[in-house]
Amino acid sequence: MNSVRNIVVLTGAGISAESGIATFRGPGGLWEGHRVEDVCTPEALAHDPALVHRFYDLRRAALATVEPNAAHHALARLDREWRGELLIVTQNVDDLHERAGTRRLLHMHGALQSALCAACGERRHWIDALPVGSRCDACGAAALRPDIVFFGEMPYRMERIETALAQADLFVSIGTSGAVYPAAGFVQLADACGADTLELNLERSTGSDSFAETRLGRAGELVPAWVEAVLGAA
Ligand code: APR
Repeated sequence: MNSVRNIVVLTGAGISAESGIATFRGPGGLWEGHRVEDVCTPEALAHDPALVHRFYDLRRAALATVEPNAAHHALARLDREWRGELLIVTQNVDDLHERAGTRRLLHMHGALQSALCAACGERRHWIDALPVGSRCDACGAAALRPDIVFFGEMPYRMERIETALAQADLFVSIGTSGAVYPAAGFVQLADACGADTLELNLERSTGSDSFAETRLGRAGELVPAWVEAVLGAA
């Protein structure tokens, strides 16, 4: 561990599961009652904006009913105490990492509490429902949409993420099924650039074979233990 200085962590829905937010692909997954293409594509937004806005309004409102869990708090501790480089990349659109206190964080798939102007690209912090046709303060267009990266759209901050992966000594993936690219390919990139790779997940994932080590269990137990070990060895 002494040789580790640059760490990149990727988190997915599994890290928020113990907070009570349903994962995407497990039993009781978020898509129950909705086909992905009905709520999470640019086409859906064009054809039925009311449905898409309502879907994300409900998810945004549900944030008020959940709290960060031990895994979010452990990563916030890592952020506070780790003296080397650290980037925590989350695929999650909830705000539980921020609420735990994590600062070195990127939301690659967008954020529920953000509205994006489809006309000018301006963003606004947004906590209430987002009616279709809401106006952008910057350009005046009635074009605010949920700031969520839909299937077929480019995830945010990829250049920054790829640079961090290329420089990483250690890449750790937490609570993600490895079903969605480009995040699913981060392990190969980190590995090819010389990083050690570790997966912490409830069960083996699509990508498990690509990791040097996989530890199976609940994020609320595995992540605090891993953070304790990393900080203890530094
Ligand atoms: N602790 C650790 N892992 C868990 C836990 C837990 N308590 N509960 C579930 N998991 C694991 C599951 O076993 C699964 O492998 O978390 C993973 C969650 O996988 P998905 O539901 O596919 O979520 P994710 O990988 O984040 O999805 C990626 O897909 O639809 C898109 O944009 C959406 O960001 C999302 C992306």
